[in-house]
Amino acid sequence: MRILGIETSCDETGIGVVEDGRRVLSNVIGSQVELHARYGGVVPEVASRQHILAAVPILGQALEQAGTALEQIEAVAVTMGPGLAGSLLVGLNFAKGLAFGLGLPLVGVNHLEGHIYAAWLGEGPDPAQEPGFPLLCLITSGGHTDLVLMQGHGQYALLGRTRDDAAGEAFDKAARVLGLSFPGGPEIQRVAQGVQATEKLPRAWLQDSLDFSFSGVKTALLHRAQARGLYPARPGETVTPDPAAVAGLAASFQESVVEVMVTKAVEAAQRHRCRGILLGGGVAANALLRQQMKKHSPVPVLIPRPILCTDNGAMIAACAYYRFQQGERHTIDLDIYPSLRLG
Ligand SMILES: Nc1ncnc2c1ncn2[C@@H]1O[C@H](COP(=O)(O)OP(=O)(O)OP(=O)(O)O)[C@@H](O)[C@H]1O
Ligand SMILES: [Mg+2]
Repeated sequence: MRILGIETSCDETGIGVVEDGRRVLSNVIGSQVELHARYGGVVPEVASRQHILAAVPILGQALEQAGTALEQIEAVAVTMGPGLAGSLLVGLNFAKGLAFGLGLPLVGVNHLEGHIYAAWLGEGPDPAQEPGFPLLCLITSGGHTDLVLMQGHGQYALLGRTRDDAAGEAFDKAARVLGLSFPGGPEIQRVAQGVQATEKLPRAWLQDSLDFSFSGVKTALLHRAQARGLYPARPGETVTPDPAAVAGLAASFQESVVEVMVTKAVEAAQRHRCRGILLGGGVAANALLRQQMKKHSPVPVLIPRPILCTDNGAMIAACAYYRFQQGERHTIDLDIYPSLRLG
């Protein structure tokens, strides 16, 4: 079964074609990063306007790369939330137009569930068979840091979430303090590559809670950057570029955030007797996180390929396949849910 997946929840226009929930026939991502970079973050109005401009050309590319005609598509899947309201509306209305124009079923998908199903995409073993349920899912992205217990397809319980910044948001803000460009996660990883951490930045353990907090480490980084003259302590104060100090602080920050996520995910997996740990979301592309999770997990670790960690249409199509098998269909009345949760 070929499903067309449409993702427009934030600043990526992602459209992909996936066969039987596992085989990626195409996955075209129109990134708006350069459009938003000069503002240091995503501007919602700019994002939704760009989705309108990009949707039709990206659909054309996705069908061409998949070697699939629109008539061969059997269902249309679309992100219904969470995300930016304007951006979600563009994708949803585009999907509705396609589905009802072609007489195809429409499946609305929770974006966070999509991040989980990115791990199903590929030629490897089916995550539901090997290692099997329950799975402990760490969704770590620009807007979320959630620990979710996945008991089966479509069955979720939220075990912990961030109390302040999401990990990706913290990476982006830390990069800004260090004078690195947006998005900050890949930049911090790049400058920290092969560099020793120079500081022991704080870790928020929150006793035995499975929640996260990254605001403390972010503030600690700001104070260290100011002490080293890398960030103005007062408005107008000049800063001195020091790439070695920036790299050391970037490595320290990355180490702190990764250690907390790995420790809590392993703890949650043990408490709930999980048979595997699954990572999803943009921060799951982080090389140190991938390496440390594999090193410390007592159970198999499933991580999508880096390109499938950040927002894309293929993961939405993959998720919709399993929802469709369970009988899920939506009507023309489907709405957006900007604050949708999982579990
Ligand atoms: N290699 C990396 N290391 C750390 N962070 C990364 C890396 N690559 C991407 N990120 C971070 O991932 C985030 C983007 O992820 P994603 O696209 O899943 O977020 P989002 O869709 O905006 O948020 P959400 O999925 O919560 O709605 C950004 O904050 C970015 O800095
Ligand atoms: Mg996302």
